[in-house]
Amino acid sequence: MASSPYQVLCVCLGNICRSPTAEIILKHYVKLAGLPVEIDSAGTSNYHPNKAPDPRTQKFARARGYDLSHLRARQICREDYDQFDLILAMDETNLSDLQWQINNLVQQGELHASVMDRLALMSEHDPKFSRQAIPDPYFGQASDFERVIVQCESAAQAWVEYWQANLDILRRQS
Ligand code: 4NP
Repeated sequence: MASSPYQVLCVCLGNICRSPTAEIILKHYVKLAGLPVEIDSAGTSNYHPNKAPDPRTQKFARARGYDLSHLRARQICREDYDQFDLILAMDETNLSDLQWQINNLVQQGELHASVMDRLALMSEHDPKFSRQAIPDPYFGQASDFERVIVQCESAAQAWVEYWQANLDILRRQS
């Protein structure tokens, strides 16, 4: 069997602010490190189907050198739980929404309960914002959008360091 890249899904509520930012920043650090990891993002809601990231998110990301303009929002779906090895929630509400959806799918016989083990917080290994939420900036101001980038950069670097120290985690069979 051929090996295929480890698959990571970043998840927030709307998939137009935090998770697309996390996706692009994680891709940046994974590429720098040369790790075999593929990254996508999705929302727990279907509030903004096929929309580009929020203009404020794009503006503050662009100022830090990240281009989010090609991304389009989508809602997480059942097939994502088959595809992704790791699902990163931006905050505790995203995490509990994912747990609720997985529980329902397990009860319907659609998923194995072990999928629950693939959930983690984006900030899981972050030494600066350890297991802290990446706060929803949608109804906030400029500093809230800047904070998302700062936290995503810190959290993403921590995941990359974790994978570099535990390369066996990235080995998967297709
Ligand atoms: P996100 O932010 O979850 O970081 O994408 C939000 C985007 C949209 C809404 C809420 C949060 N909304 O209510 O439409």
